[in-house]
Parts: sequence; structure tokens; C-alpha cells
Amino acid sequence: MRVIPRAGSSPALGTSSLDSNMKSIDQARVAPWDKDITERIDPNRDPSPYCVQVEPFFPRNSLVYDLGGGIGTEALYFLEHGHSVKLFDISPKALGIAAQKAQKAEYSLETQQIDFANAQIDAPENSADIVFSRLSLHYFDIETTTALFREIYRILKEGPKEACGVAYLAFKSPNDNEEMVYLRTNAEEEEPGVYVTSDGRVRARFTAEQLREMLQEAGITNYEINEIEEDLSGIKGREIEVKSGRTKLLLNEVIIRKTAAPALT
Ligand SMILES: C[S@@+](CC[C@H](N)C(=O)[O-])C[C@H]1O[C@@H](n2cnc3c(N)ncnc32)[C@H](O)[C@@H]1O
Repeated sequence: MRVIPRAGSSPALGTSSLDSNMKSIDQARVAPWDKDITERIDPNRDPSPYCVQVEPFFPRNSLVYDLGGGIGTEALYFLEHGHSVKLFDISPKALGIAAQKAQKAEYSLETQQIDFANAQIDAPENSADIVFSRLSLHYFDIETTTALFREIYRILKEGPKEACGVAYLAFKSPNDNEEMVYLRTNAEEEEPGVYVTSDGRVRARFTAEQLREMLQEAGITNYEINEIEEDLSGIKGREIEVKSGRTKLLLNEVIIRKTAAPALT
């Protein structure tokens, strides 16, 4: 298991525009996330240890799509490190905060409202150097998650092994016993690993084996799944991410590479 050390302090941030594609988005699904952003999220929180740990592997000046990037803490960290970023999230409140922070620091940040439940990502095929997502793709059932893997693969740039698009996706793991006690007490398991609370919100905790099956079903062959531990102790504003009250998060990391076969000579 890879253990991720604590991240450093918060970076300075940058400029943006707020796109809004409300057409196919059910407002009932938006409201709880807007409420979370308003009531629970520290706008000045530090970037996650996971984003700090994977960013050095991004090719310099990458185009990064941050899926479910919330108030843009990670997006701004990536901007500060020289990348271009498009931030996708269901919450207009979160996207507004991200846009403001980016603007203040004079970065250009593109934002897009999206509902991943529709299993469609509004981005061209073969366009992303990096797809990044932390703790945002575990809100869906098996069918939707499989379709999202297919979408992520579609938007990654195809390329040779050293220059292909790569996705770094972090899901909460069912191996976190304390988190699972919380879920089993507060939600119904509607299909294996998919828990639904009384207010209809979904939390998925997929095993590595389930993730593997979904990736294969999506036709993806070049991937790895790693169990990692993210230490949030001392990370400003991140305490609420661990419902059990522990400071360590157990995550399943999925890395997908869209490699093209070498050209025949
Ligand atoms: C736990 S937060 C993670 C935020 C950020 N990635 C991080 O690591 O701090 C989950 C994020 O996913 C977004 N989200 C939840 N459901 C979504 C959906 N159906 N479509 C798009 N974004 C969604 C929420 O608005 C929220 O910003």
C-alpha cells in the first residue's frame, strides 16, 4: 500500500469564466451539494495530499480535467504548477467560488456544470492530457460508474506510452472499516458496494475487484488499481472528509493510460 504524506500549504490562485449547462441537470440533485459547499467546506482549505502527490507525474503544461473538483482547490494548485485546467462539478456555488479565486490570482480557469449521473462528459474525444478526480466518482451505481469510465477513456488523449493521456481517479475504499460502520448504520446497500441514504444520496464503496470488473466492462485494458492511504492530519479544512473522525483515508486509486499501438514502420 502506498502511503501519501501530508501536503504543504495552500498555493496562490488565478482568472476564469463560469459556463453553465443546466439543460439536463436535475436541480434536486444540485441542492444538497450547494448546501454542503455553503455550510461545510472551508474555502481556504489546503490542497489534498493526493493531488500534491500525483501532480509531479503530469507532463509539464498539461491540459487537466478535474472531475468533481468542487471549489477548485486542486484546480488552482494545478494552475499554479503551470497546467491549464477545466473544472467540472454539479454545484454552481462551488464553481462560482473556484472562478472567483482563480480570477483574484489572475489565472484562467474554465468551469463547467455537469451531472456525472448522466454519464456524459462535455469534452472532445482525445483531448485531455490528464483526467484527475478525487472523491467525486463514488456517488453512482455500478452501471453509471462503468459508463463514466468509458467517458473518461474517450476524452483522454491517445498517444504512445510515454505521451498518452492518463487518468488519476481516487475512490473511497470499503476497506475503511470505520467508514463502513457509518454507512451500514446510515444507509441501505442497494447493490454490492452501493449505499443509499434516506434522503436518496448514493455513496459507493467499490472493492478493487469491482473496479477491475467495471474497467474491463468499459473496454479499458491499460489500468492499475492501487490501495493508498491519504493522511489528512494537519491539512487545513480537510477534517470533514473523514466521517469516522480518523485522520487517514483509505482510497482505491485507479490509473488509466490511453496508449496507442506503436506505428508500424
Ligand atoms: C467530496 S467532494 C470532493 C471535492 C474535491 N475533488 C476534493 O478532493 O476536495 C465531491 C464533489 O463532487 C461533486 N459532485 C457530487 N455529485 C456530483 C455529480 N452528480 N456530478 C458532478 N459533480 C458532483 C460535489 O459538488 C463535490 O464538489
